[in-house]
Amino acid sequence: MKTHSLLMPLDMHVHLRDGEMLQNVAKLTSYTFSGAVVMPNLVPPVKTKEQLLAYKERIMLACGLEIKEDEFDEFFDDVGLSGGDFEPFMTLFYDNYSEDFLDEVREDIFGIKLYPAGITTNSEGGVSDFDVEAMRETLETMARMDIPLLVHGETDGFVMDREAEFMSIYELLASNFPDLKIVMEHITTKAAVEMLDKYPNLYATITVQHLLITLDDVAGGMLQPHLFCKPIAKRPEDREALLNVALNAHPKVMFGSDSAPHPQHAKESCGCAAGVFTAPIALQVLCELFDKHGKLDNLQSFVSDNAQSIYGICPEFKEVILEERPFTVPAKYGEVVPMYAGETIGWSIEDVL
Ligand code: NCD
Ligand code: ZN
Ligand code: ZN
Repeated sequence: MKTHSLLMPLDMHVHLRDGEMLQNVAKLTSYTFSGAVVMPNLVPPVKTKEQLLAYKERIMLACGLEIKEDEFDEFFDDVGLSGGDFEPFMTLFYDNYSEDFLDEVREDIFGIKLYPAGITTNSEGGVSDFDVEAMRETLETMARMDIPLLVHGETDGFVMDREAEFMSIYELLASNFPDLKIVMEHITTKAAVEMLDKYPNLYATITVQHLLITLDDVAGGMLQPHLFCKPIAKRPEDREALLNVALNAHPKVMFGSDSAPHPQHAKESCGCAAGVFTAPIALQVLCELFDKHGKLDNLQSFVSDNAQSIYGICPEFKEVILEERPFTVPAKYGEVVPMYAGETIGWSIEDVL
C-alpha cells in the first residue's frame, strides 16, 4: 500500500475557539501538526498580554500538554507527553498598538491578525478605515521588531469581488511598509496569487477547501452550509491559480487550513455561520490531492518547509505517516460537522511519531 511521510506539518491559520469547543477540537490539530497559528477572533478578541497568555495555557491544557517550563518536566514524564508535541503560535487581534505595548508582548506573539471591521466571524472590532498614517507607528514598529502582519483581505463590496478589491489595500500596505512581513490569509483568487510575485514582502496561506471547491460546490446545487466560509469559494480559474502555486511548491505559499468549527445548529440554520471544519481531514485530503496530480513530493514544502523559511521557525520533531487507504469521515466531531462528513476519502493517517 502506498504511504507518504510528512515531517513537522504546520497549520498556519486555525481557529481553536475556547471553552467546550476548544476541548472538542484542539487535539484534532495537535495530533497531526507540530504547530499551528491560532487566530485571535474570540469574544472578546485577544488584545492584551494577559488574555493571550491565559488563552495559550487553555490551549495547551486542552491539547493535553503543559506550558513548557523546567518544573513541568516530571509532569511530562508522568503522563508520557513531551512539551514539544505541539506549539500554538499565538496571535493578537490588530489595533493601533503602541511601541511600548509591542515591546512588552514581543516574546509571546507570533504575529498580529488584522480584520476589516465586521467582514467575518467575530471581527466587529476590526479596522474600518485603512488610513496608512493612523497605522504607521504600529506597522513600522512591527516591521522593526519582525512581527508579521496577518490579514483577512476582503472589502465590504460584492461578495465575489471582495478579495480582488482588497488587492489595492495589500499594495498600499506592502509598498508603504516594505520591511513588514504581510501574509494574505486564506487567498481564494487568481488576483491574490498574482500579487505574490509583485511584492517581496507579501506571502499567502491557502486552505484545503479552496484547492478543491468552487462556488458551484457551495451554492450551485442544494446549498451546502458546511462548505460556506469567508472568503467564499470562487471561480474555476481562481481554483486553478491556487492549485498551481500549491502543487508546485511556490516558496511564498503556506498551508493554513482556516479550520473554523461552528456547532451544527449554527451552520444548518437560517443565517449560516461562515467556516469550514477541516482539522481532522486536512492532511489526508492534501495527500490525496497532491498524489492525484503527481506532486506528492511537493507537499512537504506546502505543509511545513515554506512556513519554516518564511517565519524562521524550527518546529519540534513530528512525523506523520499517511497511507493510501480509504477513510470514512465521521458524521460529527462532538457538535461539529466536518467537511466530507460521512464520505470516504482516499488516504488515512497511519501513524504519528
Ligand atoms: C472564520 C471563523 O469562523 O472564525 N470563518 C471563516 O469563514 N473563515 C473567520 C475567518 O477566518 O475569516
Ligand atoms: Zn479570515
Ligand atoms: Zn480564519
